[in-house]
Amino acid sequence: MSFVVTGATGKLGRHVVEQLLAKVPADRVTVVVRDAARAAEWAARGARVAVADYNAPESFDGVFAAGDRVLLISGNEFDKGRVQQHKVVIDAARSAGVALLAYTSAPGSLTAALADDHRGTEEALLASGVPYTLLRNGWYHENYTENLAPVLEHDAVVAAAGEGRVSSAARADYAAAAVAVLTGEGHENATYELGGDEAWSFAEYAAELSRQTGREIAYTPVAPEALTGILTGAGVPGPLAGILAGVDAAIAKGELVVDSGDLSRLTGRPTTPLADAIAAALKG
Ligand SMILES: NC(=O)c1ccc[n+]([C@@H]2O[C@H](COP(=O)([O-])OP(=O)(O)OC[C@H]3O[C@@H](n4cnc5c(N)ncnc54)[C@H](OP(=O)(O)O)[C@@H]3O)[C@@H](O)[C@H]2O)c1
Repeated sequence: MSFVVTGATGKLGRHVVEQLLAKVPADRVTVVVRDAARAAEWAARGARVAVADYNAPESFDGVFAAGDRVLLISGNEFDKGRVQQHKVVIDAARSAGVALLAYTSAPGSLTAALADDHRGTEEALLASGVPYTLLRNGWYHENYTENLAPVLEHDAVVAAAGEGRVSSAARADYAAAAVAVLTGEGHENATYELGGDEAWSFAEYAAELSRQTGREIAYTPVAPEALTGILTGAGVPGPLAGILAGVDAAIAKGELVVDSGDLSRLTGRPTTPLADAIAAALKG
């Protein structure tokens, strides 16, 4: 039996693989990647590297084996039909007879367009009959803290989230939950709503940035249409800018507040505070 991680060379995947390797022998870990060169270090440590692409069903032949516990990390090719891509993995996992297929989804409360692919994938997974775990990941701290340059340039946090709050957590926290599910027992056919212990508002985020930088950084709320314009002006492709503005509108409605406690319960520790992620990002 292997622990198999798709999207392993992505930002979340790298956390998952490192945490898995800290917990189980490397020869029980399979990383599924598009570019084997980017997984060379894991291969050297004894992990199996499988090269496969969600767009190429045949590339998944032989990747999974009966009894495997698999983490399907959702793809990021928004224009390529992600539900169909994820079905490729689900079909391969079903044919092989895997013991568990965990999927990184989005909060059940999220109605923004971004969630459509996740709901579609969840339906396909449930219909497949494969034992599943839905890891409905909330927002990452890093969505904000990895994009501080314009904030620090203008001393302004610009968002279309009104006074909405977000229960974000660090990628490392979501990775720890995924590893807990893969390596633990009793997670078959469970759905976890995952988010940080503390929800924060954009005004609070700006205040924390001000505290840590010693500068006056203000929250400037804008309308979703205005945010779309700002993002496209900064070079973000139109469709993606619309999706991001839609997420802010969802935040304004409270759709990214997750108060289930599932994340800290699965990992056995409190989630990483936003302030810690800001401090790490400012240190560079
Ligand atoms: N919760 C949140 O806040 C949030 C934010 C952004 C995204 N997400 C979702 O969570 C996922 C993981 O987050 P992340 O930060 O790790 O994103 P990421 O760094 O963009 O990673 C995406 C991963 O998907 C893989 N992938 C994309 N298309 C693929 C294909 N056709 N075949 C095989 N693999 C493919 C990529 O492979 P390569 O390494 O080869 O490029 C990469 O490993 C994202 O893809 C997205 O669905 C969640």
